[in-house]
Amino acid sequence: MKGVILAGGTGSRLYPLTKVTNKHLLPVYDKPMICYPLQTLMDAGIDDILIVSGRGHVGHFLELLGSGSDMGVRLSYEIQEGAGGIAQALGLAKRWSNGDDLAVILGDNIFEDSVRDAVESFEGGARVFLKEVLDAHRFGVAEVAGDRIVSIEEKPEKPKSNLAVTGLYLYDHRVFDVIKTLKPSGRGELEITDVNNAYIGQGEMGFSVLRGFWSDAGTFDSLLRASQMVKKHMRDEKVN
Ligand code: G1P
Repeated sequence: MKGVILAGGTGSRLYPLTKVTNKHLLPVYDKPMICYPLQTLMDAGIDDILIVSGRGHVGHFLELLGSGSDMGVRLSYEIQEGAGGIAQALGLAKRWSNGDDLAVILGDNIFEDSVRDAVESFEGGARVFLKEVLDAHRFGVAEVAGDRIVSIEEKPEKPKSNLAVTGLYLYDHRVFDVIKTLKPSGRGELEITDVNNAYIGQGEMGFSVLRGFWSDAGTFDSLLRASQMVKKHMRDEKVN
């Protein structure tokens, strides 16, 4: 399986921190943000990774991470012109992925758990990773019945559960056929939630519920919380 880190977007919720730099380069405790999703992919045994980011910032990621050889991985870079959403950014990975399965992670998501088992046992279709949260309305929210997901709603006013869909997804190569069928949402973006609902509709979506700490880091409060939680829970050999 190959990995994709999505690190585009304007970071408008973190302005003015993002006036001159990319959100994913901001510090989360003692590392630039993108180091955490990169570590999550590496811990899952993935060593061929594409970073998708916006035009103005791709050089900064290159300066920070280079070829990846000193970390034992191969990094590639792709540019998202404009900001058309997470699913549009993922669509740019099509040629690079060359038919392989993909672990896709959002560059502002910090995970304590290892997802190595899920990656190693993946057998096609798609898989999402859910986490119980108190503020589900900020996220994609999964409705679960027994061992299957019934639907995912993006930022619902009245969440049907407290299970947030975290920014880590496993897909087979058919994800690119799904992306081609998407229409922009109300916020003018191709939504990853629409991709996931397509897999749910085909009965091809698996899920895991995370036990460890998880946070996004795309708002002032979640950025602060992510730093505090990293310090508290993860500051051991896991992230280096
Ligand atoms: C995105 C996804 C959402 C997911 C979240 C996780 O939201 O659209 O489904 O729960 O990431 O961080 P965004 O942060 O782009 O608003």
